[in-house]
Amino acid sequence: MIVTTISELRSFLKEKRSKGKSIGLVPTMGFLHEGHLSLIKRAKAENDVVVVSDFVNPTQFGPGEDFETYPRNIERDTEMAVGAGADVVFYPSVEEMYPTGSSTFVEVEGEITRVLCGASRPTHFRGVTTVVNMLFNIVQPDKSYFGQKDAQQAAVLIKMVRDTHMPVDIIVCPIVREDDGLAMSSRNTYLSDEERKQAVVLSQALKIAADSFKNGDRNARELEKHIADIINTKPLAQIDYVSVYEYPSLEQAEIISEKALAAVAVKFGKTRLIDNVILEVD
Ligand code: PAJ
Repeated sequence: MIVTTISELRSFLKEKRSKGKSIGLVPTMGFLHEGHLSLIKRAKAENDVVVVSDFVNPTQFGPGEDFETYPRNIERDTEMAVGAGADVVFYPSVEEMYPTGSSTFVEVEGEITRVLCGASRPTHFRGVTTVVNMLFNIVQPDKSYFGQKDAQQAAVLIKMVRDTHMPVDIIVCPIVREDDGLAMSSRNTYLSDEERKQAVVLSQALKIAADSFKNGDRNARELEKHIADIINTKPLAQIDYVSVYEYPSLEQAEIISEKALAAVAVKFGKTRLIDNVILEVD
């Protein structure tokens, strides 16, 4: 079932809630793939009712980014989402979510939104936290599901929920990859054949870093250099960042004491891909 208005969604969920049903929310920007479906399946296993939102959120795109060209296909998305267990696909218009006059933002401040993707996309996380806050207010889910693919986004949302005492559990699910290791992403469709081939270097470099961490390499800068050197062997790769931070705090450290997040953002032509791995001893 597709629902396009907030009022229709609220009345559907009110009825479910009155019967004591639990509600799981999976926020997406659509053009679904197996990564999204893994979240929907997990939500279905843990909740009575599953809402998938399908909304390309303008406030999280910066000037010159791909808001207009972001791939969209609501018919295919609905079929896939329902197949994976969604009860409702919430597909609002921009006007429905941001009516004229709307001017309120929810923003997580500090290093957590300034580093990594926050450095090259300064208004991105403010857009994400604002729209996810709206979705939480509209759906009032018991649990909401996010992917480790966007590790920083998940960390920022966990902080938002903690800081503002929102009554929702954030569940973070593992990265789903193509057979050759490339992390699934709606933006992979932008890649040319040659870019697609070379993009496999991201997961390969991160895997090598994870192994080297297990073998005792704890120096964050050395790990970063090792990853960057491998990525730079591919002529079409232009590194935005290669960073190793303590995890989950996302604080800087020279020597990693326990767990770290190795995260990369790399452009292939116009397409910016991100990937990450948690560095830990088994
Ligand atoms: P989108 O990029 O569509 O991703 C929706 C959810 O799917 C996110 O939680 C993301 O981390 C997860 N996801 C994407 N690729 C994945 C993969 N390969 N494996 C596992 N999970 C994956 O992230 C957004 O949309 C937006 O910022 C949103 C949270 C919807 C707010 O607008």
